[in-house]
Amino acid sequence: MNLTKIIFLSINHFLSEWFTFDPQMFLMGRNIIFLDEVDSTNNYAKQLVSDGAANGTVVLAHFQTRGKGQPGNFWESEAGKNLLTSIILHPGFLEAGKQFLISKIVSLSLVDLLTPEVNDVSIKWPNDLYIGNRKVAGILIENSIKGSTLDSSIIGIGLNLNQLVFHSKAPNPVSLQQLNGKIYDAQEMLKGFFQYFEKWYRLLEAGKFQQIDKAYLGKLFGFNQWRNFRKDNETFEARIFGIGEFGQLQLEDRSGKITEYMFKEVEYIF
Ligand code: BTN
Repeated sequence: MNLTKIIFLSINHFLSEWFTFDPQMFLMGRNIIFLDEVDSTNNYAKQLVSDGAANGTVVLAHFQTRGKGQPGNFWESEAGKNLLTSIILHPGFLEAGKQFLISKIVSLSLVDLLTPEVNDVSIKWPNDLYIGNRKVAGILIENSIKGSTLDSSIIGIGLNLNQLVFHSKAPNPVSLQQLNGKIYDAQEMLKGFFQYFEKWYRLLEAGKFQQIDKAYLGKLFGFNQWRNFRKDNETFEARIFGIGEFGQLQLEDRSGKITEYMFKEVEYIF
């Protein structure tokens, strides 16, 4: 890896600053790698996984030269303005077929983090964080499977904090500062995220899937509302009926027929 690693902090050095409670209880933030510049924190984390990185290892960067969005998209983020992070997990307890639950708990943790800051926080299926009609954060999860369970999960999060101008063609981007004028510290936000994520992760480990599903639906943008959607250039009216086990969007049309869609098969029309 020919990347600029500016500081590497281990648990002993850093925990007292980050956690005032028993560090043994917590998974994330024991090992944080701070990078000034990297192509993509997810790519860097992928290399760490190959090198045997421990559960809960975190990569945090000021700038990405090739930040990855959802397949085929670039993730725009001005240097030093936003939160760009990837978290490595080894959720060996989770069946491969249940991997969408990871998306759900990451999204819910971000909802918890953002709710005290701004109004109207929701999750736009499958895992975009929206404030009203504008996207404030994106999640890119890259899982690997061993046998019937997950071997590793790289959870990439881009959260727009202080950027005031966006240049890419991404639909309706927004930052927290644009919404409320406050200046945010990426490390503080990450620390807040860990606290919420730990809670959801423990529920996942404990198999509380229904509780997670219910919370996700409760925050899902447009859930149960009649709205317009588009598939193959055709617009149709439907409402979100639910989410399938593998993360499929279940839409009900006016005749009561329910159809399932995979990611990118259908889009919301605002
Ligand atoms: C999306 O398009 O909605 C997903 C965006 C994910 C962006 C984050 S930024 C940190 C991590 N590293 C990447 O290259 N991508 C994710």
